[in-house]
Amino acid sequence: MDWKTQYKDKLMTAGEAVKRIKSGDRVVVSHAVGEPRTLISAMVENADQYKGVEIVHMVAMGNSPYCRPEMEKHFRHNSLFVGASTRQAVADGRADVTPVFFSEVPELFRTTLPVDVALVNLSLPDEHGYCSFGVSVDYSKPAAEAAKLVIAQVNANMPRTFGDSFIHISELDCIVEADDPIIELPQGKIGDVQRAIGKNCASLINDGDTLQLGIGAIPDAVMLFLKDKKDLGIHSEMFSDGTVELMEAGVITNKRKNFHPGKSVVTFLMGTKRLYDYVNNNPSVEMYPVDFVNNPYIIAENDNLVAINSCIEVDLTGQVVSTNIGLTQFSGVGGQVDFVRGAQMSRGGRSIMAMPSTTKTKRGTISKIVPLITEGAAVTTSRDEVDYVITEYGIAKLKGKTLRDRARALIEIAHPDFRPDLIEEYEKRFHSKFQDAPHKAYA
Ligand code: COA
Repeated sequence: MDWKTQYKDKLMTAGEAVKRIKSGDRVVVSHAVGEPRTLISAMVENADQYKGVEIVHMVAMGNSPYCRPEMEKHFRHNSLFVGASTRQAVADGRADVTPVFFSEVPELFRTTLPVDVALVNLSLPDEHGYCSFGVSVDYSKPAAEAAKLVIAQVNANMPRTFGDSFIHISELDCIVEADDPIIELPQGKIGDVQRAIGKNCASLINDGDTLQLGIGAIPDAVMLFLKDKKDLGIHSEMFSDGTVELMEAGVITNKRKNFHPGKSVVTFLMGTKRLYDYVNNNPSVEMYPVDFVNNPYIIAENDNLVAINSCIEVDLTGQVVSTNIGLTQFSGVGGQVDFVRGAQMSRGGRSIMAMPSTTKTKRGTISKIVPLITEGAAVTTSRDEVDYVITEYGIAKLKGKTLRDRARALIEIAHPDFRPDLIEEYEKRFHSKFQDAPHKAYA
């Protein structure tokens, strides 16, 4: 049967499609801004028909209506990365967290967490009947491949991206036409602190390097200071609008990449319509599933890979906490450790943890460089694999340093208001005066 006939046979309303979900099913929802909002709304409207449907999702950028308290009997959310719309449900015990490296999510769906239903959001089919996973290839494509039932929202607003990002109409079970706008995320606000951090990070980036950058004010600030660099490349979990600016300005050319030269390689995208228009039908951007892009051995195929990530707190030995504020699950590991490891194995690679030296909390302003990690928190990047830590006050190179020397390096980039307390801790722990130690260049 030709694909157009198959398409017509599988076409139905969202209400009809979600009736195929059964109580007790495990439903995987496309990641981040790729989520199929019409399908999620229809599923939640149909909640009375379900008991104990497990919703597995990573970064949920929509409003996650299945996490509302009144949905508790019908849905249980299993979060692979907690976000704004799911955090309260996790804190209240109405949702669960599964810790997992982003690179390993597809394998979970093929083994330990078998998928009953995949809810995906796809581009319109091309003339051969292939739809693109658009902004979210990551685990969305592997989940669809592993699922017993694939319900697809076919969406004229989903960009058609290249790489290993396509699925044929014949692989879908239910097709729902709905042109929701792709969720947009405005660029982060860059203040003086982020600007100083960006400048420090950019000082470690050389012409021809390949970059992994996330989203938010810090990556955007880094990019402000890359405008004079030449022939940068991208091999990243994701990229955002700031990266597009550097592509259009001819700073990111991917020309000197030794792995997929000429191509920006990513697994998902998140930004504004400008980004989504840029990647649509653009062969310079290639998207692959996350078990390829974030596989540390694949990352390491890129020489001079610079990974820049952020964190909640760093202790004086270099233990990095990125997912928890004490016992509170704030986010998830995502691709942080995948890229820390990949960058470390890359010839000429570097990995950077970039963060402001302090943060404002209900208790007042606190230091993010701490003597001990907060009780209940989990170490994300271990002190054995951390490399550079950067704040607005400078650069601490930790790899290869003794515990004593890395504590000194971290104190030197802590906020001056908190240095006396950290020095006191240093002197207790290392049985020596801070000022007595021989001077060393730490950067
Ligand atoms: N103690 C208490 N609260 C802290 C804190 C600390 N040490 N550090 C940060 N916070 C609070 C902030 O006050 C802020 O609170 P608010 O939302 O009430 O304002 C909140 O945590 C977020 O802090 P912010 O500095 O705005 O974080 P961010 O948006 O830059 O994100 C991470 C930082 C660590 C949460 C984020 O980078 C992350 O989730 N990393 C792990 C995943 C990852 O690295 N993926 C890699 C590739 S995408």
